Amino acid sequence: MKRFAPSGSPLQPTDPPTMSGAKTASSAGALSVWLVVVLVVVLFSGGLFGYDQGVISGALHGIKATFSLSPLVVEIVTSWVALGALFGSLAGGDLADRLGRKHTVLAAGAMFTLGAIVQALAQDTVILVAGRLIVGAGVGVAAVAAPLYAAELAPARLRGRFVSAYQLAITVGIFLAYQVDAWLSASDAWRIMLGASAVPGLLLFAVALVAPESPRWLMKMHRRDDAARELRRVRPGVDVEPRLDDIETALRREAGAVRWSEVFQRDWRRPLMIGVWLAVFQQITGINAIIYYANQIFAAAGFVSQTSQTTVTTWAIGGVNVLATLIAIAFIDGLGRRKLLLTGLIGMGISLVVVGIAFRFIGPAPAGGAEATAAPSSAGIVTMLALVVFIACFAFSMGPVVWTVINEVFPGYIRGRAVAVATAVNWAAAFLVSQTFLSLIDAIGNTLTFWLFGAFCGVAWLWIYYRVPETKGQSLEQIQQMWKQADT
Ligand code: BGC
Repeated sequence: MKRFAPSGSPLQPTDPPTMSGAKTASSAGALSVWLVVVLVVVLFSGGLFGYDQGVISGALHGIKATFSLSPLVVEIVTSWVALGALFGSLAGGDLADRLGRKHTVLAAGAMFTLGAIVQALAQDTVILVAGRLIVGAGVGVAAVAAPLYAAELAPARLRGRFVSAYQLAITVGIFLAYQVDAWLSASDAWRIMLGASAVPGLLLFAVALVAPESPRWLMKMHRRDDAARELRRVRPGVDVEPRLDDIETALRREAGAVRWSEVFQRDWRRPLMIGVWLAVFQQITGINAIIYYANQIFAAAGFVSQTSQTTVTTWAIGGVNVLATLIAIAFIDGLGRRKLLLTGLIGMGISLVVVGIAFRFIGPAPAGGAEATAAPSSAGIVTMLALVVFIACFAFSMGPVVWTVINEVFPGYIRGRAVAVATAVNWAAAFLVSQTFLSLIDAIGNTLTFWLFGAFCGVAWLWIYYRVPETKGQSLEQIQQMWKQADT
């Protein structure tokens, strides 16, 4: 039986050793076909998450024309995806623990498809909002189940990349949604914009049907033979028995019925605080305020036509978001989580301060989208560049790394529910920030609003510096052991 690394010693940078070094070496080669299937499930889940989040911005115009909505209903149509996601993420943890990771992803695929069809065919706003809620629930369930699935099936040395791939897919989904909106905006074809995601939803469902189940979850359900079969399928050549022993040892230490209260018990307070606070910091540093209101910010910065605003938003925000996430994927398992988080937050903080300063020269945004008559001023250009830096820094740090850490810090038996708590907190924070951003600007102005986000970057930096340990290259069992050692 292998031993966990003793307290304070450097932990192995790769998977924990097995009895057979040779087999481990061979397994470290190419991805198996089934591991690729796992990756496809993760990519589709993230892509749909991003698409359904981003698509509404372009669809709203046509929806308003069809149903002549009051501002309140516009807000509901926009934001109830987040509400659905909040509930979906809470249910997602339970589902992931009861049905298994794979079947939960399957359920998310079904919800994405159903929600897309309901929205596309909606004849009144009640049905439309119901469709938004269903899609939101799918987003929430997928947001819990897919990274969990990725974290549990990826080899330790690739775990960061797998979970980052999920984040990359979210950004690609947002980017594609911006593009689809742009293509269809002339015809205001909102039904196609919203309904288009039924196709990838169905594909996710089909791929999840044949995808392997998480061996960790199967072990938890006392299905060792199935776990061995799935592990062999996903990691051919790996020494299966010692790994299953590791998982069993970890699970035995945690034996007993899992109740929600156990997520909050003292033993796991440290990982819970890490998960929850990272989820909060990811949102209160302003990402979605910028993603949702980019057009308005660029309008204020002097990008006059709607086309120029959409272009800048699509490429400076959507495109940069995708590209910089690739940096995280390249470096997360080499440089580690802490370096990326701490470096990214410095860049985010500085760029927010710069945006705040630039707004002193730009002044308040033109009310109700009023015309800016000139070309972008230098302060406007500075704002755009600073926002590019902000998005780039977020996308290689607080975006993917937060989800990676959230999915690796909890012990297996509560992981599903604990990740759900962190994800729900993340949605609640996202909802709060996007609901209050405009009122905040009204109350304290652009400059102070961006400086407030910048100040939160500072707080997040200090908190991460002192509280978040490095987890790169450690097996999930080793990370769990670390909390025990920290307590003794
Ligand atoms: C966040 C989302 C955000 C997205 C932007 C994700 O990590 O959870 O709220 O919209 O990044 O790429």
